[in-house]
Amino acid sequence: MFGMDQRLSGAAVCVRVRVCLFAVMLAMTAAFAMAQEPRVPYVPTPQEVVDRMLQMAKVGANDYLIDLGSGDGRIVVTAAKKHGARGFGVDINPTRVSEALDNARKAGVTDKAAFYQRDLFQTDLSQATVITMYLLPRVNMELRPKLLDLKPGTRIVSHDFSMDDWKPDAFVQLEVKEKYGSAPGQSDIYFWIVPAKVAGSWRWELPSGGKGGKPQPYTAMLSQTFQMVSGNASVNGRTAPLQNVKLQGEEISFSFTADLGAGPVKHDFKGKIDGESVSGSAALSGSRAQGQYDWNAVRSPRTASAMAHHAGQVQ
Ligand SMILES: C[S@@+](CC[C@H](N)C(=O)[O-])C[C@H]1O[C@@H](n2cnc3c(N)ncnc32)[C@H](O)[C@@H]1O
Repeated sequence: MFGMDQRLSGAAVCVRVRVCLFAVMLAMTAAFAMAQEPRVPYVPTPQEVVDRMLQMAKVGANDYLIDLGSGDGRIVVTAAKKHGARGFGVDINPTRVSEALDNARKAGVTDKAAFYQRDLFQTDLSQATVITMYLLPRVNMELRPKLLDLKPGTRIVSHDFSMDDWKPDAFVQLEVKEKYGSAPGQSDIYFWIVPAKVAGSWRWELPSGGKGGKPQPYTAMLSQTFQMVSGNASVNGRTAPLQNVKLQGEEISFSFTADLGAGPVKHDFKGKIDGESVSGSAALSGSRAQGQYDWNAVRSPRTASAMAHHAGQVQ
């Protein structure tokens, strides 16, 4: 049996527990409301800008497009209707999602275009070959590490907002008659291709005296800032800077000139990166050494992150 004091303190504990529970529920509701609150207001991309964005990304029937913050669905619907692409849009606002579903129905593309009420930050992007967005600079920057980790070659198009020091691979500016409702304005379109991660030390061999000759070992040290790559190559005890380095998605090409023992030889490489290896072709042109060879290089283990300029971004 509890005494009076014990019963009183029991009631007080009960009240305290209820107050605590209420406070926890309030906090949870507030957190949920914050999570559901759009971080970017709804402003639709004018149709002519949508068309140009899809054109810049060369969207086609083999593409899978994801629009982050899809509004009334116009980007995904246009990609499906005009280019035969599949994909989906996500929006935090349920009204936008039902508008988008309606628009997909009206356009007859429900077999290709889907829409979900979802936070764009909680969305799996791994299926995408193309990502489109019309968000805000700080939201783009928050997304940037995730975008840089997508499959190399994934194309990204952003209406109006950049990704700071990740410079775009292409950029256009349009004068738009009806940018904000009936008011005119300018639209900037930024286009990027997710670069493969190539930083590190790579090695390969090529025949030194033409086909059938003794294999000549090569090494190259590459450093990378987004799609910008620089470095040098070493062969036959000489080191030469890499020239004309171009990295586009998983495609890389570069040149250098090095003396293989009988005068300078220009080397031109191009290949496709696949994780820790690259394969392609090498063209050699010099007075004594000429020819076209298969090129297969591998990255030395544990050199990748050491050579990346943007830890957590490119490697
Ligand atoms: C500027 S509008 C762009 C709409 C559409 N992409 C277009 O270009 O016409 C941004 C959209 O993002 C949505 N949005 C804002 N924050 C979001 C979030 N965290 N997750 C998903 N959608 C969000 C808004 O509801 C709004 O519809």
